[in-house]
Amino acid sequence: LGQVIHYEEEVASTQKIAHQLAQEGAKEGTLVVAELQTAGRGRMDRTWFSPKETGIWMSLILRPPIPPQKTPQLTLLAAVAIAQAIQEVTGLVPDIKWPNDILIHGKKCVGILTELQADPDRVHSVIIGVGINVNHDEFPEELRDVATSLAIEKGEKIKRARLIQEVLTKMETLYRQYLQHGFLPIKLLWEGYAISIGNEITARMLNGTIRGVARGITDEGVLMLEDADGVMHYIHSADISL
Ligand code: BTN
Repeated sequence: LGQVIHYEEEVASTQKIAHQLAQEGAKEGTLVVAELQTAGRGRMDRTWFSPKETGIWMSLILRPPIPPQKTPQLTLLAAVAIAQAIQEVTGLVPDIKWPNDILIHGKKCVGILTELQADPDRVHSVIIGVGINVNHDEFPEELRDVATSLAIEKGEKIKRARLIQEVLTKMETLYRQYLQHGFLPIKLLWEGYAISIGNEITARMLNGTIRGVARGITDEGVLMLEDADGVMHYIHSADISL
């Protein structure tokens, strides 16, 4: 992974460029990295704060031989790889909040956005967008309570190139393992970092809210949430809060 790297000073979104490259046939492992995004995209139609040179804003193209409904597994795989890389490079111990937010001391420092080009039965490409707040000293008012950077938590600046390299290395190991042995080993690693499993949480979807106890994730990476009546809900996409 990362054999081919497109490095850009300024883009609207690395996702957009990666989609284009994927459509033009870019090979698996192609990476787009930018210093600044003017229209960084987040999950659930939000924007992603992507200031110049303090973060890692990148999108990776994968071409896994899997059906589209299994792609959430790759998001969880990416979260594990990034958590491992952060731990290795900074010594900080991250938590993962389902599906793929990485938190340190309760504040978010990584977001992952997975997008697809697929037919109903076959994935053409998966674009894994990764945003890591690395060396920000501070955040805009509205993010201050919820966001942090690795430098803030560690108390010193972190070399972004080293972290990118480590993320790719971890990702490559896990991806190979996934292709050979399936999702189970990844799921176990993910559960090791996960907060909120076993606890009462609120899931906010685009079309409503459910409160219940998070019972775990399915083999597809879907969150199982049991409400007060004992009904199990299978949540594909939501924001959760404790
Ligand atoms: C989230 O909402 O938590 C996901 C944020 C994903 C941000 C990254 S930054 C690189 C890539 N390009 C984008 O426009 N978004 C993703």
